[in-house]
Amino acid sequence: MLDNLGFSKGLAGVVADTTAISQVQGEAGRLIYRGISIETLAAKSTFEECVFFALYGYLPKKDEFDNFVKEMKGYRSLPKYAQDIINSAPTTAYPMAVLQAVIASIGYSELPVNLKHEDENKHEAVHLISAISTAVAHISCVRRGKPVLSPREDLSHAENFLYMLNGNVPDAALARMFDVALILHLDHDFNASTFTARVVGSTEARLALSISAAIGALSGPLHGGANEKVLEMVDEIGSPEKAKDWVYQALSSKKKVMGFGHRVYKTTDPRAKVLRSMLETLVATKSAKEKETYEILKIVHDTMIAELSKKEKDYIWPNVDFWSGALYRLMGIEPADFTPIFAVARVAGWSSHILEMWRDNRIYRPAAKYIGPTDASYVEFADR
Ligand code: CMC
Repeated sequence: MLDNLGFSKGLAGVVADTTAISQVQGEAGRLIYRGISIETLAAKSTFEECVFFALYGYLPKKDEFDNFVKEMKGYRSLPKYAQDIINSAPTTAYPMAVLQAVIASIGYSELPVNLKHEDENKHEAVHLISAISTAVAHISCVRRGKPVLSPREDLSHAENFLYMLNGNVPDAALARMFDVALILHLDHDFNASTFTARVVGSTEARLALSISAAIGALSGPLHGGANEKVLEMVDEIGSPEKAKDWVYQALSSKKKVMGFGHRVYKTTDPRAKVLRSMLETLVATKSAKEKETYEILKIVHDTMIAELSKKEKDYIWPNVDFWSGALYRLMGIEPADFTPIFAVARVAGWSSHILEMWRDNRIYRPAAKYIGPTDASYVEFADR
C-alpha cells in the first residue's frame, strides 16, 4: 500500500494520529466505542449517554448523566441569525449546504479557541451537538412547507428531533429505534468527515467551523450521502421483480452500488446488522406497499453478495448506509433528510475527536509526492 516515499492513495492504511474514542475492526466486522461493542451500546445505552461517553471518556454516574441531559436540552434553540439563514434559503436548496452554513453561523459568536480551557470547549461541543438537531429539523420543515416547531425540553434528544421533524411525539418504540440509529452513527474512527474535522480543528480554528467543514465532507455520495443514493436506487429499480437484473446490469457496467463497500470492513458492517434487524421489526407492522423498499433491498443485497463472490470480490459487503434509509423512510422521513440526520449523530464524534486531539495538538500538514516538472520556463503570452 505505502510506496517507498510513504505515499498511499486515499491515505489507505496510513495511521494519522492516535484515538481512544472508537475503533473499526475491519476483518472481524466489529465496532467499539471506548472498548464497548456497538451491539451492547445499541441494546443498553442512549444517544445522550453515548455522547457523554465519547466526550468525557467514561460512562456517567446517574447525577452526571442527569446534569448532562439538562445541559443538552438547554442548548436546543438556534440563534435568530441561524434561523434567518434557513428561512431565507430557497426551498430547493440542498439541505447539507444549508446545514453547513447554519453551523458555520454558530461560529459568529464563538470566542477564539483556548486549548487549555477544555471545560469551555466541551460546553461549546455540547451546544453544537444539541443545536444541530434543531437546525436539521428546521431545514426540513421549511423545505417541505411545514410549520417550524420549537424544541421541547420534556423530550429526549431522539423524541424531540422526531417531534420537530414530523409535528408529533413519536411512540416509544419508534423513538427508541431512532435513538439506536443515532448511537450507531455517532463515531467511526478516522472516516473522511472526522478526519476533516480533525484537520480543521488542528489549526485551532473555532469548533463550529471545524464541524461545518466536516458537514461538507459528510455530504458526498462516497460517504454519508450514500444513504440517500440507496433510496434513489430503490426508486429507480421500481419493483422487486426488477431488482436482480438491475444488479447484474450495474455490476457489468462497473457501476458502484451505493451502501456497499468500505475502506476498512472486509465483512458486513456491524451497524448494518443492527439497522437491518430494526428495519425487519418495523416492516412487519407495515402494508405490502410500504414493505416494497425492504423487499427490493433484500434482493439487491443477496444478489450483490452472490455475484461479488463469483467475481472474487468478496471483500465488498453492505455498510451502514444500505439499510438506514429504508428504516427512515418507514418513519415517514424523506431521503433529503437522511444525510443531515447522519450529521445529527456524527457531530458528537467530530467534536469528541477535536477535543481529544487538542489535549496534545499538532497541526496536520502532510507531505505531497510532487509529480510535476521541476524546471519549467515561463512563456510570454505572445509566444504561447
Ligand atoms: N459496488 C460495486 N463495486 C464496488 C463498490 C460498490 N459499492 N465499492 C467498491 N467496489 C469495487 C471498486 O469498483 C473497486 O473495484 P476494482 O478494484 O475492480 O476497481 C474495488 O471494489 C475497491 O473499491 P474502491 O472504491 O477503490 O475502495 P475505497 O476503499 O477507495 O472506497 C468506498 C470505499 C466506501 C468509497 C466504496 O466502497 C464506495 O464508493 N461505496 C459506495 C458508496 C458507499 O456506500 N459509501 C458509504 C461508505 S460507509 C459509510 C460512510 O462512510 O458514510
